[in-house]
Amino acid sequence: MIINYNSLSQKTIGQVVTEHPELVKIFMQYEVDFCCGGDRSLEEAINRDTDEIEAIKKALTVTLADAFQVPLNGRSINLSSLSDAELIEKIVKTHHAYLRETLPEISELLFKLLNVHSENHPELFEVHRIFGGLKTELEGHLIKEEKQLFPALLARQVGLETLILTLESEHDGAGDALHKLTELTNHFKVPKDGCKTYELVYEKLKNLVADMYMHVHTENNILFKRVKGE
Ligand SMILES: [Fe+2]
Ligand SMILES: [Fe+2]
Repeated sequence: MIINYNSLSQKTIGQVVTEHPELVKIFMQYEVDFCCGGDRSLEEAINRDTDEIEAIKKALTVTLADAFQVPLNGRSINLSSLSDAELIEKIVKTHHAYLRETLPEISELLFKLLNVHSENHPELFEVHRIFGGLKTELEGHLIKEEKQLFPALLARQVGLETLILTLESEHDGAGDALHKLTELTNHFKVPKDGCKTYELVYEKLKNLVADMYMHVHTENNILFKRVKGE
């Protein structure tokens, strides 16, 4: 079956994000609310008065085609086809490496932003505080995965359920923080008096949200499910 905008339009946006986290970056780009109004259909969620609708549909279809390329043998390449070791390598080399680089960068930039703009934008105190908490939580989380879960999983150890439950609840906590950041910043919209740093940090936060969706999806819905035998 070909997956494109039309085949997804009647699903709820919440469902679409779960099944296709690669689309989050498009939703972020066009400020489609996929967190709170999760029960609306995709068609309703992207509905707006401008001709942007066509651009959104096109971007969704292109992104879906990229993620689900069908090579010669007709087998679609997706994350589920990777072995545990390949999946773990991908998680560590892409998502974890990305977080190690971007979290300190965003932290430094947000502190600068707070210094210059918090007088006119007091919401930045809350953005700074929530991001700080998220950064701390995620750093501990990465280490738990890399030092505890992944080696145990590769060694085929049993009894990993409790650890997985903890990690999943940390994913939920990170998701909540990212939703709050999206709301507080009005979908990372730079205010009129914003400067280059403002633009840069909001762009980086937007990318962080999109990457975290793919990251958590890969862990919760593919890797962890294998361990749980689902
Ligand atoms: Fe991870
Ligand atoms: Fe994780």
